[in-house]
Amino acid sequence: MNKILVTGSLGQIGSELANALCERYGKGNVIVTDIRKKTGDDQIADCEHAVLDVTDPTKIADLVKKHDIKTIYHLAALLSAVAEAKPQQAWNVNMNGLYNVLEVAREFGCSVFTPSSIGAFGLSTPHDKTPQDTIQRPNTMYGVTKVAGELLCDYYHKRFNVDTRGVRYPGIISYKTLPGGGTTDYAVEIYYEAIKNKKYTCFLKAGVYLDMMYMPDAINAAINLMEADSAKLIHRNAFNVTAMSIDPELLAASIREHIHGFTIDYKIDPVRQGIADSWPDSMDDSAAREEWGWQPEYNLNKMTQDMLKHLKIKLQK
Ligand code: NAD
Ligand code: SER
Repeated sequence: MNKILVTGSLGQIGSELANALCERYGKGNVIVTDIRKKTGDDQIADCEHAVLDVTDPTKIADLVKKHDIKTIYHLAALLSAVAEAKPQQAWNVNMNGLYNVLEVAREFGCSVFTPSSIGAFGLSTPHDKTPQDTIQRPNTMYGVTKVAGELLCDYYHKRFNVDTRGVRYPGIISYKTLPGGGTTDYAVEIYYEAIKNKKYTCFLKAGVYLDMMYMPDAINAAINLMEADSAKLIHRNAFNVTAMSIDPELLAASIREHIHGFTIDYKIDPVRQGIADSWPDSMDDSAAREEWGWQPEYNLNKMTQDMLKHLKIKLQK
């Protein structure tokens, strides 16, 4: 069995992806890493853990050599709102971190999964049914690093034959690990506040449609893409993937079906509103469906039922 390294594995996606990889391939085959040390609060499998700052190329190479790693799931990054607050650090982590991972992959023959994002699009991108191949002129540091990352991954594939693959994730909704500072975080916070206070004050406006996806689908997307037949992949970096296109009002209505009397009001954060306005309303993910059989399982109602069921248990503890 080829061994797997996960970077940024204590984050919202990394923690659940690491668990899924351990279940699928065995704990002994997965090494989870993050810039911070794992604590008892982290919801992560009991497999080998190392502290790894992805801006340190020597440490990445040492770990890959030591464990004979053949696949890297590279999740370490700063998300959109944090990246806008710290653009220099975002460039360093998102770009230099990716470059370091790709260089190690080239040297040691690893395949690499790197998520891109709806943030790779901008105001001049068509917002409805955003095509797989279209204008990408984002106006945020996060978006700049995501477009540049897609191009860099394509370059390493074409120039050095590194098996690079990626998806453009939409906002990811989950109940285990909190999101790390993105524009779509409202879609997670709203469930916590609905259970705790039956009320949520949203930082994005009503009517802002964005693509979203429930965590189990996000995890399946990563693993299924990495297991897909390489010969069938035309796009590689990175595939549009989506499960639903929703705005805060639709999300609130789906919660209200289970929590009667739940209310939403609005206090707009201009930075995150500006970012959301520049992103697609809904993406066309037909290339992912055709090239590697992408198919989400969760729609809005199924996700809301599952989120509320699990969060009620979590918040009672
Ligand atoms: P997150 O912020 O929850 O987690 C990122 C992790 O990276 C954190 O645990 C952090 O400690 C770690 N990290 C930060 N700097 C590091 C460094 N220098 N070296 C090593 N680790 C470092 O992010 P996430 O939501 O899990 O996102 C993972 C990936 O998916 C990112 O590339 C992100 O852009 C992408 N993505 C996420 C979403 C989403 O909604 N969560 C949507 C689209 C794309
Ligand atoms: N959820 C992510 C963010 O808002 C999208 O990439 O940053």
